[in-house]
Amino acid sequence: MLPTPDLSHLKQADYNHVYEPSEDTFLFLDAFEDDQKYLETLKPAISLEIGSGSGCVTAFVGKILGESSCLKLCTDINPRAARATVATVRQNKLTADVVETSLVEGLLPRLKGKIDLMYFNPPYVLTPSEDVGSRTIEASWAGGIDGREVIDQFLPFVKDLLSPKGAFYLVVIEENKPEEICNILHQDGFDSAKIRTRAAGRERLHILKFTRRTAPEDKH
Ligand SMILES: C[S@@+](CC[C@H](N)C(=O)[O-])C[C@H]1O[C@@H](n2cnc3c(N)ncnc32)[C@H](O)[C@@H]1O
Repeated sequence: MLPTPDLSHLKQADYNHVYEPSEDTFLFLDAFEDDQKYLETLKPAISLEIGSGSGCVTAFVGKILGESSCLKLCTDINPRAARATVATVRQNKLTADVVETSLVEGLLPRLKGKIDLMYFNPPYVLTPSEDVGSRTIEASWAGGIDGREVIDQFLPFVKDLLSPKGAFYLVVIEENKPEEICNILHQDGFDSAKIRTRAAGRERLHILKFTRRTAPEDKH
């Protein structure tokens, strides 16, 4: 079992402003641990976490990838979260470039088709639409109608950013209608798999994984 990244530099006061790693975060880590061999074979040249929060997930993925030459990128809309991510990668003796931005604003067109590994534990809680788009701790959970407003804003970027061999991992809850999300990305040419599921209180969490559908002729 891989150890959870060292987060001892983050104090309770930080978690008043930055999402504290929780059941969803840890399920995400479990999914990456399950996929360790896959990730080692994938050998991503560039990875991107959207909404990196404390930086826990990127530090964990960084440990899996080891001293590879992967350029790790992170974004977060919350400036305090962006700073926490910088501190966490440093605390874990890793490197990452952290951009304070909404979703992937500013990364396209430069990174078009270049991301080999992309992952997002989004704000997925069902809330009024007015709650979406804050740059504070509220951005950690406020997902709007069906908890899908931020997720749906992001989905069109998946086809633009992922490289041909790339994989995209997404945390969702049952109320986000995972089948519908899979259908949307299916239309953009992606296969999907539900690779982990866990009940956490009243939430039923899932980790979805998307890879580009190979054309039938590619299989020969
Ligand atoms: C559920 S938290 C996940 C944090 C961390 N990745 C984890 O798994 O513990 C969601 C994160 O997404 C960020 N976020 C929300 N909306 C965003 C947006 N439009 N662009 C970038 N980050 C966003 C929040 O600030 C928060 O850090």
